[in-house]
Amino acid sequence: QERMSYPKLANHSSPGYCNITVDHRFDCAPDQATREDCENRGCCYSSTYRDSQTVPACFFPLGYPSYKMGKLSPTTTGYKAKLKRVMESFFPNDVMTLKLEVKYETEGRLHFSVSILSAQVCEKSRRGPAVLAPQVRCVLQKLEGGEEGIQTTTQKKKKKKIGLNTTVAPLFYADQFLQISTALPSRYISGFGEHLDRLTLDLDWTKITFWNRDGGPRPNANLYGSHPFYLAMEEDGSSHGVFLLNSNGMDVVLQSAPALTWRTIGGILDFYVFLGPDPKSVVKQYLDVIGYPVMPPYWGLGFHLCRWGYYSTNVTREVVRKMREAGMPQDVQWNDLDYMDEKRDFTYNEKYFGDYPEMVQEFHQLGLKYIMILDPGISSTGLPGTYRPYDEGLERGVFIKNQTGDPLIGKVWPGQTAFPDFTNPETHAWWYDMLEDFHRNISFDGMWIDMNEPSNFVTGSVDNCPMNDLEDPPYVPGVIGGTLRTKTICASGEQFLSTHYNLHNLYGLTEAIASHDALIKLLKKRPFIISRSTYVSHGHYAGHWTGDIWSSWDQLYYTIPAIIRFNMYGVPLVGADICGFGGNTTEELCIRWTQLGAFYPFMRNHNDFYNGPQEPYVFSKEAQDCIRKAIFLRYKLLPFLYTLFHQAHSAAETVARPLFFEFPTDPNTWTIDHQLMWGDALLITPVLKKGWLEVTGYFPSTTWYSLFDFSSFRVYGCLPSSSRMGHVKGSVIKSKGQYIILPAPLDTINVHVRGGSIIPLQEPNMTTSASRHNPFCLIVALSEHGLARGELFWDDGDSLMTFESGDYTHILFLAKKDVLLSEVIRVNSQIDGLILGEVTVFGVLKYPKNVYVNGVSISTFSYQPETQVLNVKLLTLLMGEQFTIMWS
Ligand SMILES: *[C@@H]1O[C@H](CO)[C@@H](O)[C@H](O)[C@H]1NC(C)=O
Ligand SMILES: *[C@@H]1O[C@H](CO)[C@@H](O)[C@H](O)[C@H]1NC(C)=O
Ligand SMILES: *[C@@H]1O[C@H](CO)[C@@H](O)[C@H](O)[C@H]1NC(C)=O
Ligand SMILES: *[C@@H]1O[C@H](CO)[C@@H](O)[C@H](O)[C@H]1NC(C)=O
Ligand SMILES: *[C@@H]1O[C@H](CO)[C@@H](O)[C@H](O)[C@H]1NC(C)=O
Ligand SMILES: *[C@@H]1O[C@H](CO)[C@@H](O)[C@H](O)[C@H]1NC(C)=O
Ligand SMILES: *[C@@H]1O[C@H](CO)[C@@H](O)[C@H](O)[C@H]1NC(C)=O
Ligand SMILES: *[C@@H]1O[C@H](CO)[C@@H](O)[C@H](O)[C@H]1NC(C)=O
Repeated sequence: QERMSYPKLANHSSPGYCNITVDHRFDCAPDQATREDCENRGCCYSSTYRDSQTVPACFFPLGYPSYKMGKLSPTTTGYKAKLKRVMESFFPNDVMTLKLEVKYETEGRLHFSVSILSAQVCEKSRRGPAVLAPQVRCVLQKLEGGEEGIQTTTQKKKKKKIGLNTTVAPLFYADQFLQISTALPSRYISGFGEHLDRLTLDLDWTKITFWNRDGGPRPNANLYGSHPFYLAMEEDGSSHGVFLLNSNGMDVVLQSAPALTWRTIGGILDFYVFLGPDPKSVVKQYLDVIGYPVMPPYWGLGFHLCRWGYYSTNVTREVVRKMREAGMPQDVQWNDLDYMDEKRDFTYNEKYFGDYPEMVQEFHQLGLKYIMILDPGISSTGLPGTYRPYDEGLERGVFIKNQTGDPLIGKVWPGQTAFPDFTNPETHAWWYDMLEDFHRNISFDGMWIDMNEPSNFVTGSVDNCPMNDLEDPPYVPGVIGGTLRTKTICASGEQFLSTHYNLHNLYGLTEAIASHDALIKLLKKRPFIISRSTYVSHGHYAGHWTGDIWSSWDQLYYTIPAIIRFNMYGVPLVGADICGFGGNTTEELCIRWTQLGAFYPFMRNHNDFYNGPQEPYVFSKEAQDCIRKAIFLRYKLLPFLYTLFHQAHSAAETVARPLFFEFPTDPNTWTIDHQLMWGDALLITPVLKKGWLEVTGYFPSTTWYSLFDFSSFRVYGCLPSSSRMGHVKGSVIKSKGQYIILPAPLDTINVHVRGGSIIPLQEPNMTTSASRHNPFCLIVALSEHGLARGELFWDDGDSLMTFESGDYTHILFLAKKDVLLSEVIRVNSQIDGLILGEVTVFGVLKYPKNVYVNGVSISTFSYQPETQVLNVKLLTLLMGEQFTIMWS
């Protein structure tokens, strides 16, 4: 198609015309045009930065033609306008007329979309698969819509103004190339997952690509998931967020102006702006659109153990036995591909896993749960009648199709495979049937869904891919491998809702939805699903692990920003492979990793086939002691962690969060990603470097108390016995907002409780099924005003909808001056018989002469004047009944 050229624009001798500072250049040749092409486009060319891959040499002059906005007309919730393109752009199939719609949807949320005229408003319901369907519907409307469209916007709210200026560069809206740039009000941007990055993104020409891909995490690569959302801290300590609801392949380019460019190859421009004004509100406003996190079962927060290479039931049993012999708590045993017959889903190997059903039963008798892997690729090479998943899938039409309407065949672990199309309701029914059948023999408790980008060992398909605009669009985002089909299936694959081109990034999400629904139907319990690939709203259905990371100190550090970010994306159930997956770990690394891993919301040690072993029991006795302590520490904290998950599920809170979520007005916190917080109360300062026995942490201005004396080997109490209390080191930090050097012996991870909080703990045991009967303990960390508060959410741990149906216990704990009391907001039978056994109060200034429990004086308390810690023991207070503890 002949393009119009722009001779009248190309006047480089006009003063000021191309006089644009490097930081403010917006790329006029993302498709790598030559200098001649650049000038034919009417753009400026400067070879000054020719050597740089990232700084655009070809950039837009000021006032480059784009769309012109027509009259703004008010609507009930905002306004709308038409946008008309002044002249055709250099990308094929411009949409010449667009419609802009701006809606103030809630107090904190602005929604604006730029779409073709005939596109219906893409309404989203607050939660659920609705996120998927309208997105795709919009995509379809756009594909069917033909000529038209528009855009340029500045958005502001009545109260709050955010400096998102979209007129800094021209808008593009062509069939396969949509681009919009905005100036940013600050340089503190985090989000845009999934990528291996620091928490605060580098704005120096960072290109972030969204196209889900199987590949070990490394910098500047598109990884397993796509979350086109970011959160910005503004210079005044307030915060806002922006989300582009678009599932197509996409690039985001950050530049230090500061500014960013969104560049997508399909869909519509459907933006949400979350006005905060604080970071926690931004996340809540985002989750109001995409769905709140699913509530995990209690056991899912225990310790999980997995590796590729447990090649038989005997070996798997041996692992569980050795864990118990070593006194290591464990809730869940996993198997990787090893259990399968020829690596095919829904089969098991008769030779090595002949007594697989019995093995799983045995684990259940020990109070453990069991999870195995499933990959989406279904082996297609069996003789008809020999492999039901394929035979029946074929018959029911569940597979993604190629150009001739046959199942598109790729290659994964079992060899040639077809790929279920989880956008097809029939596929959900078929998936359920397969799981149900398998579950009759193997009573698994949760699912591990892997390889669901989807990963493919051949490019596109065994029959290659056709040549067309979907396979080779005019602009290809910055994907590893250079084509959309690299390591996955053909973009032109046909799915129920649309082409794979539009649905690729939704593959893992749609599989997670099918699995979530199937498990609910099958088990009638809360589903526990861990998926590698994710998209927006994933956390409403499942959790995530951060994939095939390397056993290195560097990657240990990167897990902190990764876990924090997934919490921002509404996926609090997230963890990284403890001790690393690829390559051999070392004893020291594995200890430090288990200590940090005890604070991953999802805690699993997982290892690759080719490495030396890294189960907790393979290390020296000293190392085992350190690892055991870390796991027990987590088990003690589980009631607190579970309550945080409840708050995520019911109120869109984060579980693991960055310091700046709690201290947004302290700029020192904005970029901190060597530490993390659990809720608003615990600050975790791990060792992330080899050989370090001290660690520096930032302590925002308030009072902090060190949680434990780790030198005690008494793991079964909530705290070390009082005879060891004198060993609590530097337990109080009254920070002015400063960095503090902390001792960090090999057996210690520094955890500090924020003054003003009360943390519910429980004496641990080897599994949560056992520990859930144990006495609770409370850590009361008084603020400088002598106040503290906390809460406990408790239910049976795995029934569906306990919160929604009111079948739970909710207790508030309050401390004021010299009194601690509980307030039972709601109570159910699950709390019956559970007692409070011990209370530790930090920050008791005066030696108490008496302690009264419900008015009765008791003598089972001790006080350490040096540390100002009061410890009250041997309590037998029923948790379900209100109590008062007073000291004077
Ligand atoms: C380019 O700009 C210069 C300086 O403003 C002007 O003299 C000249 O006529 C312009 N040339 C064209 C082709 O517009
Ligand atoms: C380019 O812009 C800078 C700053 O805006 C200005 O100082 C300078 O005079 C301009 N140069 C030309 C040739 O217009
Ligand atoms: C938006 O950016 C354009 C181009 O840089 C500039 O001319 C304009 O003044 C900016 N608008 C606002 C409101 O800052
Ligand atoms: C499950 O067990 C039944 C009966 O023992 C057997 O016929 C069937 O093949 C088993 N299913 C699988 C997937 O192995
Ligand atoms: C598993 O262990 C049992 C009992 O020790 C033994 O009889 C059996 O041969 C073992 N199976 C395999 C596959 O090693
Ligand atoms: C589609 O896949 C089938 C196998 O399912 C294959 O025989 C056929 O050649 C493929 N068609 C194209 C156009 O690749
Ligand atoms: C990793 O450990 C295994 C077994 O301990 C050993 O065979 C292998 O050589 C090690 N690999 C490397 C790269 O050191
Ligand atoms: C752990 O659980 C077992 C089995 O229920 C019980 O016998 C044991 O006393 C418990 N230990 C502790 C320390 O709670």
